[in-house]
This record gives sequence, structure tokens and C-alpha cells, in this order.
Amino acid sequence: MKILAIETSCDETAIALIKASGDLNNMKFKVLNKKVHSQIEEHKIYGGVFPSLAKREHAKNIIPVIKQCLENNNQKSKISLKKYEKEIKEILKREPDLFEAFKDFVLNIPKPEIDMIAVTSGPGLEPALWVGINFARALSLVWQIPMLPVNHMEGHMASVLLTQDTNPKSEIRKTIINFPSLALLISGGHTELVEIKNWNKYKILGQTRDDAIGESYDKVARLLGFSYPGGPQISKLANNFRKKPKDVNLNTMINFPRPMINSNDLDFSFSGLKTAVLYEVQKLGEEIKDSKVKELVAFEFEQAVTDVILKKLQKALKEKDFKNIIVAGGVIANQYIRENIENLAQNCKIPVFFPETEDSTDNGQMIAVAAYIKSFVQKPKIAPKINAQGGLTY
Ligand code: KG4
Ligand code: ZN
Repeated sequence: MKILAIETSCDETAIALIKASGDLNNMKFKVLNKKVHSQIEEHKIYGGVFPSLAKREHAKNIIPVIKQCLENNNQKSKISLKKYEKEIKEILKREPDLFEAFKDFVLNIPKPEIDMIAVTSGPGLEPALWVGINFARALSLVWQIPMLPVNHMEGHMASVLLTQDTNPKSEIRKTIINFPSLALLISGGHTELVEIKNWNKYKILGQTRDDAIGESYDKVARLLGFSYPGGPQISKLANNFRKKPKDVNLNTMINFPRPMINSNDLDFSFSGLKTAVLYEVQKLGEEIKDSKVKELVAFEFEQAVTDVILKKLQKALKEKDFKNIIVAGGVIANQYIRENIENLAQNCKIPVFFPETEDSTDNGQMIAVAAYIKSFVQKPKIAPKINAQGGLTY
């Protein structure tokens, strides 16, 4: 089946078209098209994502992005809006500009050959989520194509199934995951250890009690004078430090805490680490302007985060006979954390699955895969009423 997926939970307007086949034990996916419009430039001055701006930007960009994903073939649209116009106006009442652009879009693009529309319904920024949800409902109605709401974190887990095949001739790759699987989800909003009992059956084993890992990267980056998102910048600084062993004598100056590393559970906490970085930056005063000192702070911070992740993973692995590890979420774009988890998995003789770096941060293709998985237990419907979920629901 062909799935069109829409993701607007944070600051990326992402749409993908994928082909999916097989049963839950033998799924195959092919990404036909994928597009992401990032709002990073717009949010930079706020030092983080500003929800009402994210909503406006999604409403502005969602049509240009979907147009890039769907082929036009110079065919005419056969859609008549008359039947649904009132209902669509109601669905898009909170996005009046989008309503006008939507009409123009469906009247000029032929209905695509797709079987299902998938949309992220949460967790995420509510105003941002609503744009995707309302847009997907309007499309579902006018095209009469059923849709499914998808949990964003299930999307991240599903992203490991998108792994690219190295053989250019076979474009479809299947990754088989055995269960129970241990998932570590590390993103801007979440830090969780999840037991995947089976696709569509999850249990949260532990989670952060305050900041998520990505969030703490972003906050530390701000303390060092860098703009949002901070993850890639901090990891670059930390890598620079690693490459320069001659500066290692600076190392003795800083030692950040590893919060909850020895706690008797699988929960995390990162706000204390961020506060420790804040105090250190204050103590360093003018010295923090020195790029070498920034690199040292970033290195020590990343080391503290990595140590905690590894320890918690090891603890979780001791608690159950997991068949493999899945690690997903924007932070796993970080090569250092990735390599360390890879080493741990190798030492524990357990397979580990990561998404491709490009599928690690928010994207539409992971939402499409999650929808395919969900379609085995929930029937997609035409324009169902959906609530945007601020919290985590599995
Ligand atoms: O999954 P994602 O795209 O969005 C959420 O669902 O939150 O994750 C975004 C987060 C941001 O906090 C960003 O700083 C972090 O992922 N991130 C990284 C790296 N690339 C992105 N963190 C550490 N190292 C990276 N290379
Ligand atoms: Zn995400």
C-alpha cells in the first residue's frame, strides 16, 4: 500500500510518500518521496521553538512541501469541492489562509494513488500538531482516503525499519526485529527506555524526570552562546576536543555530575547537569569565550550524557532477556553516542538498530512506517475526529 504521511509536531514540516508491504513479521518499505521544511532559521532568535510561530510556519509551508512530494504528471484534478467545502472550512477554521491555499491545491493537483494518510497526533507542540491534523483531515475528506493518527515516539521507533539498502538495485529493505526489544528514545522532548513487547505493544520502563537529552544539549549550547538547535554544535565542539589530545591537561578542571547514574531505576534526570554547566560557565567568566574552553565544556557535558545513557542501557539489559536494542530520536544523529552504544551492544553480544542519520531527526517517512504498523490493529477512517496529544500515550 502507498502511504502519505504528515509530521508537524515541532519545527519541521515533513511529508513523505512510501510504499509498504508484508505482514508485521516481514515488513518492507520503499520511500518514494520525502521532503522536510525546517523552521530553524525562524526560531533561532528565540533560542528554542516558539509554538505560535511554529503553527504559522507549518500553515504557510505545508502546501509547498506536499506539492514537492506528489507528482503532478500534468493531469487535471477531477475533484469538486462543492460537496465538502463547508466541512473543510470548519476543519480548517483555525488556519484561514491554509483553507484558501488548500482549495487551490486540491483543485489543481490530481488525487494521488494512495491508500492511507498518516499524521502525527502527538506528543508535540499542540498548535503545531493541529496544523498537520486539520490538513490531513481535510485531505482525507476531499480525496476520500482513510487516515490514521500516529504517535510521534512510535514514529521514531519505526524509523529503524527505514534503513537504506547498500545494494542500489534492490531499493526495498526489510529489517526484522525480534521481541522483546529494548528501545532507547532520545529526542528534544523525550528520553525514554521502552520495552517493545511486540509491534503495537509497548511499556515505558523509565524516562526523564525533567529535561530531555536533546533539550539539555540545546540549553547547554545556549549557555555557550550558540543558537538553537544545540545538539549538532555541541557535538562538533566535543569532537574537536577529542581530536586534540594535547589539550587534555585542561581536562582536570571540569568534572560534571552524572545524575541518577546509580539510581535503582531506569529513570533519567538532566536538569542538574545543565545547572552544573551553568555554574561552571559562570565560574569560568571571561575564559568561556576561549574556543578551547568551550570545546572542553562541550566534551565533558557529552561525556556525562553518554556515561548515563550507557549505564542505564546496561541496567535495562540485565533486567530482561531483550533480543535487541533500538535507539532512535534526534539525538542519535550524534555519532559519538551512536558509536558508544554500538560498542556496548557488541560487548553484550546483542544486535542494535539505529535509523540512518537522515532519518534520526523528525521526518515524514517514520510516521508513514508507524502508521503501517498501526494499521494492523486500528482501521484507518475518513477524516476521523482526532485530539492533539500533548502527553505521551502508547
Ligand atoms: O527527534 P527530534 O528531531 O525532535 C523531537 O522530537 O524533539 O530531536 C531534536 C533534538 C534537538 O534537541 C537537537 O539538538 C538534537 O535532537 N540533536 C542532537 C544532534 N542532532 C540533533 N543532539 C546531539 N547531537 C546531535 N548530533
Ligand atoms: Zn522527534
